[in-house]
Amino acid sequence: MKIAIGNDHAAVEMKNLMMEYIAELGHTIDNYGTDTQDSCNYPEYGEAVACAVAQGRADCGILICGTGVGISIAANKVKGIRAAVCSDVTTARLVKEHNDANIIAFGARIVGIELAKDIVRAYLDASFLGGRHAERVKMISEIEMRRGQD
Ligand code: RB5
Repeated sequence: MKIAIGNDHAAVEMKNLMMEYIAELGHTIDNYGTDTQDSCNYPEYGEAVACAVAQGRADCGILICGTGVGISIAANKVKGIRAAVCSDVTTARLVKEHNDANIIAFGARIVGIELAKDIVRAYLDASFLGGRHAERVKMISEIEMRRGQD
């Protein structure tokens, strides 16, 4: 799988450890995040990863900032993106099974590296269940279509 990763200054170390882990799992990873701890703006990195996923340059994305919240809010502004913040393994599995999340986000100031690895693994190992969940995901896309012009 080809994975796009992005981060702000709060998550450089976490991003580097996560890239090593993703490579160990046998996936390809493209780094769209900052590599320095100089203060920067998380929306830029959320948008970069979201565009890579929305345009098919990556199969899915991983976003990390201090909390995972700001960077995921930014990513969710890109059409077709369903970015979900997860701080536990069960949510990480369910956002793929039920919501077909195409980006997972978490906070480097919230979860430690071992939990972050388990979260990412649970997300990558899960599959979208379709059925009634597909209907609901379609409803989300329809909101995007209806409200995109407002
Ligand atoms: C940066 O200090 C911090 O605001 C950012 O990483 C993130 O937590 C925002 O949601």
